[in-house]
Amino acid sequence: MKSNYNFDRIIERRNTNSEKWDRCDFLFEGENLLPMWVADMDFQAPPEVIEALERVTSHGVFGYSAYSDSTYESVQNWFSRRYSWDIEREWICFSPGVVAGISFIIQSLTEAGDEIIIQPPVYYPFSKLIEGTGRIVSENFLLEDNGNYSINFSELEELCTRPAAKMIILSSPHNPVGRVWQKNELEEILRICEANNIIVVSDEIHCDLTLGDSMHIPMGKIAPHYERLITCTSPSKTFNLAGCKTSNIIIPGKEMREKFQGTVLRNGCADPNPFGIAAMEAAYCHGEEWLCELKKYLERNLKIIRDTLKHELPEVRLIEPEATYLAWLDFRGTGKSWQEQDRIFRDIAKVAPDPGHIFGENGRGFQRINFACPETTLREGLDRIIRAFRKN
Ligand SMILES: Cc1ncc(COP(=O)(O)O)c(C=O)c1O
Repeated sequence: MKSNYNFDRIIERRNTNSEKWDRCDFLFEGENLLPMWVADMDFQAPPEVIEALERVTSHGVFGYSAYSDSTYESVQNWFSRRYSWDIEREWICFSPGVVAGISFIIQSLTEAGDEIIIQPPVYYPFSKLIEGTGRIVSENFLLEDNGNYSINFSELEELCTRPAAKMIILSSPHNPVGRVWQKNELEEILRICEANNIIVVSDEIHCDLTLGDSMHIPMGKIAPHYERLITCTSPSKTFNLAGCKTSNIIIPGKEMREKFQGTVLRNGCADPNPFGIAAMEAAYCHGEEWLCELKKYLERNLKIIRDTLKHELPEVRLIEPEATYLAWLDFRGTGKSWQEQDRIFRDIAKVAPDPGHIFGENGRGFQRINFACPETTLREGLDRIIRAFRKN
């Protein structure tokens, strides 16, 4: 495929302090595993980002840093240009990551014993943050019908009317099932939450990674009037900047914003780092062409997964993602229990995906495979999986 960027290039990530590569064998208790877990990409960031970071490095002074006018504008312009969502500058709050941001939100706006709704199977740190702060996880399990996921609205309504219910954390687009929520679905979530005074935390970290014709709609556009909405954004998934620890939590409501900022200050996390600022600004200002090419590559990789499974391992079903570079694969058709699947991946395939059971009990029997890697790596992973599951 002709591209100005070389996504085929294999970049050695071992011995670079990479969590995905250097901690894989330890965390999965295996040997020489091929990492296909955790959501970062095996590609370099856009060249403009690398150049911006080189400028910071060669300046050589790495003192305390702060967003400037151009930083705020880069964030505002990105969302206005791509989603026609107008964010006011004062709504933008820095956080050293979305996970940290969600923890600060929980600590700022709920009390121990409050119930916080999540929609499993879902990004597993949500439940860890809720439990870790003494709040209670309230599970609104997604419905799955023949590989199609949807929201159980009647159950959501019941959960929201419970006296202890205070907040919902949405994954939009949804990790791991890859759904891009439609306007009517977002409106229905909002209707239910508004009627029950529930705080909506919309984690939109994957919003730029829509595939095919899918279009992400920010909850902020559906609910510009709703004072109890917070949106979590970041360039980290889009441009592979997770290690730069820079994300933006968008909080239009003044009271909620002040509480959030108080918590960030109290936790000593109010200062962005100079690398994260430079990387984000360069990505949002100059990264669009790269992103467009990246998405073509991801779609091609997805096709490889689709075609390979269809021909070589048809008992495994690909849940077609509408966004993200994470393929949610249904291995239940192999007849292997989720525990057996873990063993086969670790000991025979020597591949480390994220096992579905960590995303919630309705994730059992599924595997989440990260396909943001060069085609050769992807094919190697698929080969290993096919050989292992065919003979076991
Ligand atoms: C839904 C979701 N939220 C948050 C994160 C992580 O965000 P951060 O690295 O900014 O804490 C991820 C990473 O995979 C994610 O999938």
